[in-house]
Amino acid sequence: MIISAKMAKAINEQIGREFGASLQYVAIATHFDNQGLPRLAKHFYRQADEEREHAMRFVKYLVDAGAKVAIPSVDGPTNTLATAEECVRLSLEWEETVTKQIHALIDLAIKESDYTTQQALQWFVEEQLEEVSSMDRLLSVVRRAGEGQLLLVEDFLAREGGDEK
Ligand SMILES: [Fe+2]
Ligand SMILES: [Fe+2]
Repeated sequence: MIISAKMAKAINEQIGREFGASLQYVAIATHFDNQGLPRLAKHFYRQADEEREHAMRFVKYLVDAGAKVAIPSVDGPTNTLATAEECVRLSLEWEETVTKQIHALIDLAIKESDYTTQQALQWFVEEQLEEVSSMDRLLSVVRRAGEGQLLLVEDFLAREGGDEK
């Protein structure tokens, strides 16, 4: 094993949080799906897939590093979100929190002179910048449109083409 047991434990915890984020985004996607907002739904189903990919990237990293994968219990998502703004605000807060968690993993890697993990985490640093900035932008659009005009948000996502990837 080329990383410490402490680092492996911290990464396992992050795997749980990435899977948790995936579940939260599925919950948000279905909220939009139920309301007849297919592009917002699709946007969040895709976010859910991406979070699962993040979890799997960490899983693969632990396997490559010769560490044991021990996925923790994952908290269920919040299923009581009432408005689009609430959904997107929660998502943005989540992404900001995850960014701090990634930074904390880097702090640990630096403390342990674990250059391998520092290197592996760089991908996540860039990914978090992208996720925070795109969620922040979506929140602005949702706020500007207002709850009664969410079709404008659908148009925005259609124009962006970002949901067609
Ligand atoms: Fe993630
Ligand atoms: Fe994310």
